[in-house]
Amino acid sequence: MKATATAPANIAFIKYWGKTDSELRLPANSSFSMNLSEARTTTTVEFSSNYTKDVVQFIGEKSTPAEHDRIIAHIDRLRSIAGNREQARIVTQNSFPKGTGIASSASGFAALTLAAALALDAPLTQNDLTMLARIGSGSACRSIPDGFVVWEKGTSSATSTARSVGSAEYWDLRDILAVVDPTMKKVPTTEGHETVATSPHWNDRLASVEGRLRAILSAFKDKNFDLFGRILEEDCLDMHKVMQSQVPPLVYWTEETRALMRSIIGWRASGLPVYFTIDAGPNVHVICEGKNEKTVVNRLDGLACVQFVLVNRPSQGAHGIDTHLF
Ligand code: PMV
Repeated sequence: MKATATAPANIAFIKYWGKTDSELRLPANSSFSMNLSEARTTTTVEFSSNYTKDVVQFIGEKSTPAEHDRIIAHIDRLRSIAGNREQARIVTQNSFPKGTGIASSASGFAALTLAAALALDAPLTQNDLTMLARIGSGSACRSIPDGFVVWEKGTSSATSTARSVGSAEYWDLRDILAVVDPTMKKVPTTEGHETVATSPHWNDRLASVEGRLRAILSAFKDKNFDLFGRILEEDCLDMHKVMQSQVPPLVYWTEETRALMRSIIGWRASGLPVYFTIDAGPNVHVICEGKNEKTVVNRLDGLACVQFVLVNRPSQGAHGIDTHLF
């Protein structure tokens, strides 16, 4: 009744922003992402009749009562599927260097879902696991399958699931995370998802995002990097246009974010194929092909606004491992 799983964080090229069902976390649009090699959560879960209460422990980090309750609510979902009533001990550890602003909720709920399912020996398919991880924390469903992943918005909980559209080896891309402000954590997105419709640009996003998804998947299939990059950057700017015009406005960019965006646009104009995407924080994910990694890292190192970089390759999804955390 004890198992350990590890799962990557992911970066979305077509973003998930807005929900049609808050409790089930059904998204307003389908999204597309890449799993990140250098940002993982590892979690061990044990169920035992010897435990008198559920215990959650974060190694090297503090957790809040709200985080504890959200984790236990997820364990309850799995316990009820498996028909098990034993208490659990959950120990979890993030690999991320501090201050990157990468959220641990995607990798965390993916690792938690798989570790608990393995410990309970629950007969769940990968599709089932993505559905459960989604209820735990939206974009966590994209951290279950391997490599490059599409999360179909679906029409119900059973159909809003994620699947791999390419292994980690399919395309040698890089997400070079350029940290411009290590003191700013990723700002929680839960409330932002709720107020999307207050933006005058929301309907335009809804009307265009599925077409962008189809276009980027075609560029992905052809490994057409320039088209791929153009579309992912367009989707990032489109999501931030909605965020910035919501009530209350969500402005995640700082002066350093803007300076870096301008540099990347300039490098591209001078012939270096490089694009950016940004989530709910100030740091910039710089996307390029593996062959240009060194050049891009050198250029980023030369900018005063960049404090450090974290080079991510595409990575496999959530999987069980033999080394337990306790
Ligand atoms: O899963 P959440 O609630 O953290 O939402 C993710 C929102 C973005 O990171 C901004 C976009 C995405 O698709 O990852």
